[in-house]
Amino acid sequence: MKNLKFLSVLLLGLTFACTKDKVPADLSLNCVDTVKFSTDILPMIQSNCTGCHDVGNGTGYTLTNHTNISSNANAVLGSMRGSGFQLMPKGGPALPDSLIQKVECWMYQGKLNN
Ligand code: HEC
Repeated sequence: MKNLKFLSVLLLGLTFACTKDKVPADLSLNCVDTVKFSTDILPMIQSNCTGCHDVGNGTGYTLTNHTNISSNANAVLGSMRGSGFQLMPKGGPALPDSLIQKVECWMYQGKLNN
């Protein structure tokens, strides 16, 4: 009986440690739902970023589709947080945390083109 208790504590601990490992240290949201690029990410980028980051703009970042958004994902997230990059949307204010966390979860889930 004692051994069983020990074993369950051990298993629980292991499960927790493994789950914890996969989550970025600063992730405050549980990414339970799968973020959908086509409905969660792209429309958000189109309404808040693409106006300035369309094809042929002079900013160095084109954010119009899955290919260019996913290859610039670190910069997109960093700029939305204003950490490591200039805060975007340019001139602020920052977008709501819930939107930033969606980008975070989308990246964590493998930047799916779903
Ligand atoms: C009003 C225009 C405008 C909007 C809206 C805008 N940007 Fe920018 N962005 C710029 C300009 C211009 C630059 C180039 C740097 C500069 O001139 O300040 C830039 C630079 C950047 C950079 C590089 C910053 C750095 O520090 O290297 C990233 C990444 C970026 N934008 C992402 C985004 C994202 C993501 C959004 C939407 C959440 C967004 N931008 C919205 C105009 C804009």
